Amino acid sequence: MSFSSDHPVEVIRRWQEDYTRFRRDLHAHPELGFEEHRTSQRISERLTALGIEHHAGIGKTGIVAVIRGQETSPHSIGLRADMDALSMQEEGNRAHASTVPGRMHGCGHDGHATMLLACAQYLQETRRFSGTAYLIFQPAEEGRGGGKAMLADGLFERFPAERIFALHNWPGLSVGKVAVRPGPIMAACDRITIDIEGCGGHGAHPHLTIDPVLVAGHIITAVQSIVARNISPLDHAVISLCGMRAGNMDAMNVIPRTAHLVGTVRTFHAETQNRIEERLRELVIAVAAGFGAKATLHYDRVDPATISDAQQARFAARVAAQLFGEENVVHDLEPSMGAEDFSYMLQKKPGAYLRLGQGDSDERHGVFLHNSRYDFNDAVIPYGAGLLAGLVEAGLPLVAKP
Ligand code: NI
Repeated sequence: MSFSSDHPVEVIRRWQEDYTRFRRDLHAHPELGFEEHRTSQRISERLTALGIEHHAGIGKTGIVAVIRGQETSPHSIGLRADMDALSMQEEGNRAHASTVPGRMHGCGHDGHATMLLACAQYLQETRRFSGTAYLIFQPAEEGRGGGKAMLADGLFERFPAERIFALHNWPGLSVGKVAVRPGPIMAACDRITIDIEGCGGHGAHPHLTIDPVLVAGHIITAVQSIVARNISPLDHAVISLCGMRAGNMDAMNVIPRTAHLVGTVRTFHAETQNRIEERLRELVIAVAAGFGAKATLHYDRVDPATISDAQQARFAARVAAQLFGEENVVHDLEPSMGAEDFSYMLQKKPGAYLRLGQGDSDERHGVFLHNSRYDFNDAVIPYGAGLLAGLVEAGLPLVAKP
């Protein structure tokens, strides 16, 4: 796709090589949540070189850049990108592969941070807007609570964005396409652990024991009745028990005293979430009691659901259509049962969460997020950066047209 020469995508495309190099450098040096010291440093150096006011150390390794438009106005927009990597081993032999064993930019947050930086350069050099743009480089999105940490550090008191936007690259969606819809887009993520206590003993004399492994088996099965029988078929929810620890693989004749299960619950609505927690507790305790065992459920709410404000989602879709053409805006991409901690910011400010095409599923860039062969598609840098800049230009328009 090509556009007129002053279109943000075309302006940013002139810097393609520079930002590709920057993105690949981040990819080669992945850092986990709250440990993004090098990443933060690189971003800060760039912002300084561009002459952009910025504040580091917000939510530990987070940064907020402040760019003011040509005209003053009390209005403002916040743009947020995450920048942390994952605990996983990268596969493949690309030149910019991770240099850190067991760490990988497997979700493209290297690309997100790079696109926000390219957007910063564009906004700083053109300043074709009124009011203030706050560019939020957030640490620790991958389950470590970076969004929450920035809020606790006074993010919106110090940088009072009126509305906020974030985007995530999306494999399987073509380059140049943007998906946005009002309402829930990512699920709430909860962690459940179940501790079962029985009475251990000899595998040959089970009648003298209370077997926690058998109890765990019944709990695993019973729990799957909740979504099937307690939740409306028109709603969406997932309960997955993903791990179990009990006994010793070297001891085929020892019934253990305890068994432990761990899993996750995903929902879009608070009532559904509450209902599942309530049913889980009832079932886990009652099933265990039925066998003479004791079970405890620990239910931790990790991330709330990511819900785009209807008005802001419509605004973002309009901006995407102006930039890329209505045919490239996808209004009906299915929500994901994955979670996203931008949800905490969306609880405080109206805004929207967008998905940016990363490549078709039959291309290399269609490899899905968190896959050990995933790599962010550098060709989309100008699209993502241009879209973020477009939200500012359209949302904070100049009164006196140049
Ligand atoms: Ni991600």
